[in-house]
Amino acid sequence: MTATRGLEGIVAATSSVSSIIDDTLTYVGYNIDDLTKNASFEEVIYLLWHLELPNKAQLQDLKQQLVDHMEIPQEVIDSFKTYPIDKVHPMAALRTAVSTLGLFDEEADVMDKEANFRKAIRLQAKMPTIVAAFSRIRNGEDPVAPRKDYNIAENFLYMLNGKEPSAIEVEAMDKALVLHADHELNASTFTARVCVATLSDMYSGVTAAIGALKGPLHGGANEQVMKMLTEIGSVDKAEKYILDKLENKEKIMGFGHRVYKKGDPRAKFLRDMSKKLTDITGEPQWYEISEKVREVLTSKKPLPPNVDFYSASVYHSLGIDHDLFTPVFAVSRVSGWIAHILEQYENNRLIRPRAEYTGPGMRVFKPLEDR
Ligand code: ACO
Repeated sequence: MTATRGLEGIVAATSSVSSIIDDTLTYVGYNIDDLTKNASFEEVIYLLWHLELPNKAQLQDLKQQLVDHMEIPQEVIDSFKTYPIDKVHPMAALRTAVSTLGLFDEEADVMDKEANFRKAIRLQAKMPTIVAAFSRIRNGEDPVAPRKDYNIAENFLYMLNGKEPSAIEVEAMDKALVLHADHELNASTFTARVCVATLSDMYSGVTAAIGALKGPLHGGANEQVMKMLTEIGSVDKAEKYILDKLENKEKIMGFGHRVYKKGDPRAKFLRDMSKKLTDITGEPQWYEISEKVREVLTSKKPLPPNVDFYSASVYHSLGIDHDLFTPVFAVSRVSGWIAHILEQYENNRLIRPRAEYTGPGMRVFKPLEDR
């Protein structure tokens, strides 16, 4: 038995949800370019869960169900106040809050298909509320209740900032949610599938996935990108900063990908949004530094930017705290995790690979008194 490091190139599941072939990303056969230009996040959620685009009535029904379930139990809000709130990372808070949410869902362990769809709605609807409420409570503010006339993008920004978002902010948020919704067998999705393949429940699968997304080699990279841009501070300092990092064999966050070799098709949309939004906010330096970083890095290494690179300056421009960037990713990706969890349940088999043993050979046991 020979291990493949990081399971590179291993095909570990079949899936109809999304595919990456020749650097083209599709959700259920629809090119991400078309979906980003034309579909709302709610349409994408429906597509991922039902494997078809909704008609008008189906979309309206889904939107209604989502807004109807956006409020979170008071117990979850109260539990935030028991966290070491000024020290805890919002991804750790989100991971714990989603697990707590499961405690208050009487259907958490009901595994039939209808119950799983009901839980899917509840989880998707409540994730933005959890992130926004946590953010407000740690800032000493009261949580803002969701509005029934708002979609997820609108409600998330509204609950986070406590004011009506502008049309351009909503458009950027909605597109970012579409772009992050699913991505084949990425690390967090694989984690979710491994978890529920034991026939564990959806809350456990999503909690496990949040833990995997948190790391800086995966979803946590977007926060690290903004940290890097802030450390660089101005365009003229970017070249030296990147060359020094490369000299020290450090990774540049927001670049590289296990699957894409030519480029991540999502990055161009976020790049355009970054340009547009940083112009509006009067902070063009974040886009300009990003561009310089890309130019310097790609002149040294064939590493195109991934989804996390330009999303950093986009989220910053939307007034989102930097340590909330990865939770925002989770607000979107939960739609994909759920799609994969539902798919796993449909045709389940325990996921249990083998390990190549590299420890000592057979040894003779010595009793404790002889050691
Ligand atoms: N900066 C500098 N060098 C890099 C980078 C980078 N961002 N990414 C890869 N490399 C180099 C590695 O040092 C390695 O070089 P070597 O062969 O000379 O040692 C080579 O490219 C291969 O890198 P691996 O880490 O083995 O590639 P892997 O496929 O395992 O990792 C990953 C992919 C984790 C995305 C990697 O490119 C990385 O760490 N990027 C930075 C973190 C990041 O942006 N993560 C978000 C990814 S998108 C997402 O998950 C949402």
